[in-house]
Amino acid sequence: MSFVVAIDGPAGTGKGTITKLIAQELGLVNIDTGAMYRCIALACLAKGMTTNEEKERIIEIANKVNIQIQHNGAEQEIFLDDKNVSEEIRSQEATMMASQVSAIPAVREIMVNLQRKMAEGKEVIMEGRDITTVVFPNAQVKIYLDATAEERANRRYKEYQEKGVNLEMTYEEVLKTIEKRDYDDSHRAVGALKIAEEAAVIDTTKMTIKEVKEKVKEIILERRK
Ligand code: DC
Repeated sequence: MSFVVAIDGPAGTGKGTITKLIAQELGLVNIDTGAMYRCIALACLAKGMTTNEEKERIIEIANKVNIQIQHNGAEQEIFLDDKNVSEEIRSQEATMMASQVSAIPAVREIMVNLQRKMAEGKEVIMEGRDITTVVFPNAQVKIYLDATAEERANRRYKEYQEKGVNLEMTYEEVLKTIEKRDYDDSHRAVGALKIAEEAAVIDTTKMTIKEVKEKVKEIILERRK
């Protein structure tokens, strides 16, 4: 029997950070589903595609690629066809292309099946956009993390500066990208971002990472009893 903690929310709500910390503290397997769409994006970019016009080709790639999430202590490493792409998938190009490939229903179907398989018989914490609604609508714990677009852009901008990635982007550009992704994520025909019934909604705008983590942990421990 699996135990599933499903977490959804828009880009920049801290899902990745919170999930990683909780996985470590509660001994859950951490599955970052955004990283999976980013892998498909990377494989498409490598074949010269920058839009989702060539749907058949993208679906073929999604069917063929081998995506592995390996856990190295608290860190998660993402492998695409045996190559460690943990950093490459975070580039601006991969971010924009991930949004494109995730709009293709057949690609989503392939990913959803893979995500369900990855959780089989395990205790997992899985984050994304459609985990509480499509992948695991019957998850034992369903959480929706939210924050204003400005605050999320602020966090992303700081993260880029700290990690030394996407340094060419101004705060305004980061905000525009966040707003575009919000629109795309919530207007997809399939797997659109929405708040699931029974999901606990946490507005993280004015909360620290630690406060969000403690709140989420409290909800999980209450249901895990
Ligand atoms: O969470 P993220 O920024 O790494 O996600 C990358 C892209 O993948 C983003 O455009 C939303 C999409 N995505 C999705 O459609 N469904 C998921 N379960 C996870 C991510």
